[in-house]
Amino acid sequence: MDYGMRNRMSRIFKPGDDRTVMLAVDHGYFQGPTTGLVRPAETIAPLAPLADTLMLTRGVLRNCVDPGLDVPVVLRVSGGTSVLKDDLSDEEITVSMRDAVRLNAAGVAMSVFVGSPHERRTIKGLADLVDEANEFGVPVLAVTAVGKDMVRDARYLGLACRIAAEMGASIVKTYHCQGFESVVAGCPAPVVIAGGKKLEEKAALELTFNAIRDGARGVDMGRNIFQSDCPVGMLKAVRAIVHDGASVAQGYEVYLSEKSKKAR
Ligand code: 5RP
Repeated sequence: MDYGMRNRMSRIFKPGDDRTVMLAVDHGYFQGPTTGLVRPAETIAPLAPLADTLMLTRGVLRNCVDPGLDVPVVLRVSGGTSVLKDDLSDEEITVSMRDAVRLNAAGVAMSVFVGSPHERRTIKGLADLVDEANEFGVPVLAVTAVGKDMVRDARYLGLACRIAAEMGASIVKTYHCQGFESVVAGCPAPVVIAGGKKLEEKAALELTFNAIRDGARGVDMGRNIFQSDCPVGMLKAVRAIVHDGASVAQGYEVYLSEKSKKAR
């Protein structure tokens, strides 16, 4: 790995524990103004200083994030579909590597849809993106997107993660599942988890704890943070679990204490 790639990876995964708490706020790229992200600037401002990394699109980065803020960015560079379509797998690369570098991206991210109608296009797209990103020393994060008909089990997620890593992804994002250890064991790249649909706060912290226990190197979490009744509290609680070895109960205390400050 050359200097640029290593340096960018160490901006994403914090030296010390080699883990990351990435805040995902890229949902608008196919969902539009989704709950909690209707005004991205307002959502992002209090959270960004607490995140190790932000994952977002160039539109939101340029318009809604203070360029003076010292937070690494993983730029979503795929898209082309919307929630109005049944098949979300018809994605392509939407951002040039030149623009990603111009935006000082620490990494770029795209989705791969294993088992979907556009499986081949997205897997080949990932391999091409890795080739191009390698030229600039930029790590690629592959998101294992799960179609409506797919089961989020260790067999499927293990397959999708392994393929993403084999194509050269530097980081793979997937979902936690029963038997997650085997997904991590079969994936030669670091694995981070998405949070998925909004859960009750304690359940989201349990998910975080279990993922770290089972070998995830961090989270790339969105809705369970920004749709919480106390997003700052949730982000601090997730950090406590990922970086400080907190238990679920300790993490939940962090959330409750922040929430009570907010209420005062
Ligand atoms: C959308 C994404 C999101 O970034 C990802 O799903 C993480 O967000 P959440 O924790 O809300 O699931 O990649 O395709």
